[in-house]
Amino acid sequence: MPGYRDLFDSSITDPVAFWGAAADAVTWTRPPGRILDDSNPPFYRWFPDAELNTCANTLDRHVDAGRGDQPALVYDSAVTDTKRTYTYAELLEATARFAGALRKLGVGKGDRVVIYMPMIPEAVIAMLACARLGAVHSVVFGGFAPHELAVRIDDVRPTVIVSASCGIEPGRVVEYKPMLDAAVGMVEHPPRHCVVVQRDRHRCDLVEGRDLDWADVMAGAEPVDPVPVAATDPLYVLYTSGTTGKPKGIVRDNGGHAVALLWSMRHIYDIEPGDVFWAASDVGWVVGHSYIVYAPLLLGATTVLYEGKPVGTPDPGAFWRVASEHGVKALFTAPTAIRAIRKEDPEGKYVGDYDLSGLKYLFLAGERLDPDTYHWASEKLGIPVIDHWWQTETGWAIAANPMGTEALPLKAGSPTVPMPGYDVRILHDHGHECETGQEGAICIRLPLPPGTLPTLWNADDRYQASYLTEHPGYYLTGDGGRFDEDGYLFVMGRIDDVINVAGHRLSTGAIEEVLATHPAVAECAVIGVADEIKGQAPRGLVVVKAGASTDGLADELVKLVRDEIGAVASFKLVDVVPALPKTRSGKILRKTMRGIAAGRDEPIPSTIEDPAVLDALSPILRG
Ligand code: COA
Ligand code: AMP
Repeated sequence: MPGYRDLFDSSITDPVAFWGAAADAVTWTRPPGRILDDSNPPFYRWFPDAELNTCANTLDRHVDAGRGDQPALVYDSAVTDTKRTYTYAELLEATARFAGALRKLGVGKGDRVVIYMPMIPEAVIAMLACARLGAVHSVVFGGFAPHELAVRIDDVRPTVIVSASCGIEPGRVVEYKPMLDAAVGMVEHPPRHCVVVQRDRHRCDLVEGRDLDWADVMAGAEPVDPVPVAATDPLYVLYTSGTTGKPKGIVRDNGGHAVALLWSMRHIYDIEPGDVFWAASDVGWVVGHSYIVYAPLLLGATTVLYEGKPVGTPDPGAFWRVASEHGVKALFTAPTAIRAIRKEDPEGKYVGDYDLSGLKYLFLAGERLDPDTYHWASEKLGIPVIDHWWQTETGWAIAANPMGTEALPLKAGSPTVPMPGYDVRILHDHGHECETGQEGAICIRLPLPPGTLPTLWNADDRYQASYLTEHPGYYLTGDGGRFDEDGYLFVMGRIDDVINVAGHRLSTGAIEEVLATHPAVAECAVIGVADEIKGQAPRGLVVVKAGASTDGLADELVKLVRDEIGAVASFKLVDVVPALPKTRSGKILRKTMRGIAAGRDEPIPSTIEDPAVLDALSPILRG
């Protein structure tokens, strides 16, 4: 097999040949005649004349190939003490039947279905059932509050919403149904129906005529066959935080997605059909879409769906128990989870309680892997700990250490090297490339490889404005970083107003919009500050209106953000300040404040309106 460098070079010099060959791993109903449509830059389409069904690629073809009795999905719920394994044949049966149920409710090719669910098998079945029908799913993370759900419903306009009576967080039951009802009550485009999984822990009331019990619709449904779709048709829309309060609907197509994920399973994660792969994330995030649901099943591997936390369910050995019990070969999680485990078990004693001889790799992504966490995990587990960098937009790794291709030497603090198809460049002003070692904006030369976003949902203009305008011909990742002399990439953090809290991507702009609705708030800014476990935490700086009381204001603001955005925002830090530093044109100096809060020697912009404001604020920011 060619080494990394040869593979990478060939993907850049001849992407058509590279991805054309990779496409052979997919079962097409109409194989690609053309690999890349580059006739309408900056929009690119992979496999423009091909057809396939993604669900058939994840289930039917493995059953047809004799893998029907192999475990496809292992559900391990630490919060309900339940385990259940679905073979490929069983998962196919349930998925085909739920697809039949959705069809009876009026869902067809191109229609949208919102999925707002906890980590239960029905969430995976619902996603795959949509794919089977050629419908477009849009999963909304369960930690989001009704308003955020409502914004997504109105943008994607689903025919049906699939949900559950509750989620189970350590120490509390999260009632999903009242949040769903509240969201549906707010929208302009309500769904025709909601299908609700009634969980034993808490059953909910159903709205007559609109809501249906999952068990009832399944009982009355007939399994349906997969519907072929164009490779360029959307498989899903996944909303992610941008720099404003309005989330971006990242579109994923069917064909490029299947090709890229299949390629990544073997070449990056070193996984073969029959291996057990566990992404300890959530189906509400891109990691869950790509590496809990689609990639392992496309390959014919076994995926683990874990409902629980790294700590407290019941102890910091939870991950090691699951890995050993289900024979996991590669575990993928976020650094924050490892930091949480380390905090409770600094000596790594729980690691020794389990037979982890089958665990070959720990892959980490979602936020920067700090060298301390990297060293701790490497030492305690004694296996390669692989940092890799990607985003909701790309759907798979931009930079990684490709374990199934060539294990390159690891460097703490670096996600190693760009993956095939990603022509990564570090740019500074006016599109000039930085020297080796110099930090700049991490960009990717167009076209992006298969599997990455072709556009934003119903928002081609926003797609161009957000990603493609600053440096024409390049995709702007929003991260800053540099290459070292060995070609290793170092990703230093976001250069926009996106923050990463416990691996969850949030917009400071969205939090600011909520704070600004409080009657006492005159103006505000939210910045990300360092947090020992979560990597970053949002911190609000508010200026109150003349004469407004500040009694209890911080608590009210914390509650407001929790109610409007959701618990996942982890918004707990609020400071009332006399004024915010601004430029003479009135722009709040967020970057400067971020730098000071991070303890950096931040240059003061020459455009600052009143340096005394910043002087007064600096001790608060540093404190
Ligand atoms: N539904 C409802 N509420 C949820 C939720 C969900 N699916 N997920 C999280 N929440 C709630 C939590 O209960 C918590 O509420 P609280 O403020 O009442 O305690 C809040 O949202 C914040 O959750 P979280 O960020 O998960 O923090 P935590 O303190 O509960 O746990 C970690 C910290 C590090 C253990 C946890 O964040 C973790 O496991 N992270 C892994 C990150 C990850 O999977 N990222 C995905 C990208 S790979
Ligand atoms: P998300 O879209 O939620 O996956 O978040 C993507 C963002 O998370 C990236 O733009 C980065 O800022 C950050 N990120 C993800 N993985 C890494 C990594 N390995 N190193 C540094 N930052 C990362």
